[in-house]
Amino acid sequence: MKHKAFGRTGEQVSVIGQGTWYIDRGDRAAAVSALRKGLDLGMTHIDTAEMYGDAELVIADAIAGRRDEVFLVSKVLPGNASRRGTVQACERSLKRLGTDRLDCYLLHWRGQYPLEETVAAFEGLVSAGKIRSWGVSNFDASHMAEMLAVAGEGRIACNQVLYHLNERAIEHSVIPWCEHHGVAVVAYSPFGHNDFPEPTSAGGKVLQEIAARHNSTPRQVALGFLNRHPSLFAIPKTSRAIHAADNAAAGDIALTESEVAALDKVFPLGREPRSLPMI
Ligand SMILES: NC(=O)c1ccc[n+]([C@@H]2O[C@H](COP(=O)([O-])OP(=O)(O)OC[C@H]3O[C@@H](n4cnc5c(N)ncnc54)[C@H](OP(=O)(O)O)[C@@H]3O)[C@@H](O)[C@H]2O)c1
Repeated sequence: MKHKAFGRTGEQVSVIGQGTWYIDRGDRAAAVSALRKGLDLGMTHIDTAEMYGDAELVIADAIAGRRDEVFLVSKVLPGNASRRGTVQACERSLKRLGTDRLDCYLLHWRGQYPLEETVAAFEGLVSAGKIRSWGVSNFDASHMAEMLAVAGEGRIACNQVLYHLNERAIEHSVIPWCEHHGVAVVAYSPFGHNDFPEPTSAGGKVLQEIAARHNSTPRQVALGFLNRHPSLFAIPKTSRAIHAADNAAAGDIALTESEVAALDKVFPLGREPRSLPMI
């Protein structure tokens, strides 16, 4: 598994991590095994949020005794992101996760509280040793500029945003902005949530052809396409150990220029939308 610098945090983080939205639905023992298998295979970046129901409790079981291996990320809901509310939300997440610190803590999306309040809370949590860095999610380039004006250079660790083959909007402004300012870009829903290209579709066929050449799978090729950006990390979610193994193997895939061009043709970038897509 490849690792690279996570923005300007000074941390080296696995390029493929593990999402956990909906991981608390269904067989919890299987979900814990999947997360542990992912850790065994180097997918040590685990993403969660206070919004994800009992996901933090599932993670607590999966990382018990292995906390130091993990780059653990959670998120505060915008409705809780006041100065006091952010600190309280973080403490609740730490308790549910059974840990004393997060490696990164994110504002889930832009809400009503002034960014100054949330940033003051984040910086207080850093000083208290409860979080090691902080970032944002679902911020477009203009939100990032506002955040930069509040926080200053080098403080925003990452921006976690929607990015998959059929939704490439962040390539227009978000990735260039983040790369210019040393902010890691974390691709959520890298398989399109529940809408991965069918093998019989035009795009699915190209994915299969490239996968066959690399002795890999279409999903590994999809992750390889996203991870071609130097700032990018992807966090696919799975509740199955066998899928975790499949996803982890994508950490080593490197597509050629002509393969990237073939994917670009069949999954076109499209025009820049007025507002950043999110789910
Ligand atoms: N910041 C935000 O606003 C935001 C929004 C959405 C998501 N996220 C984060 O990003 C993570 C990933 O996004 P997501 O959960 O929306 O969707 P996703 O990772 O794009 O796709 C998950 C789906 O793919 C399946 N899957 C995973 N690996 C597979 C494999 N190797 N083979 C076949 N199927 C596979 C999973 O099923 P199985 O479980 O059965 O394998 C699940 O149905 C979330 O879990 C969450 O942590 C953040």
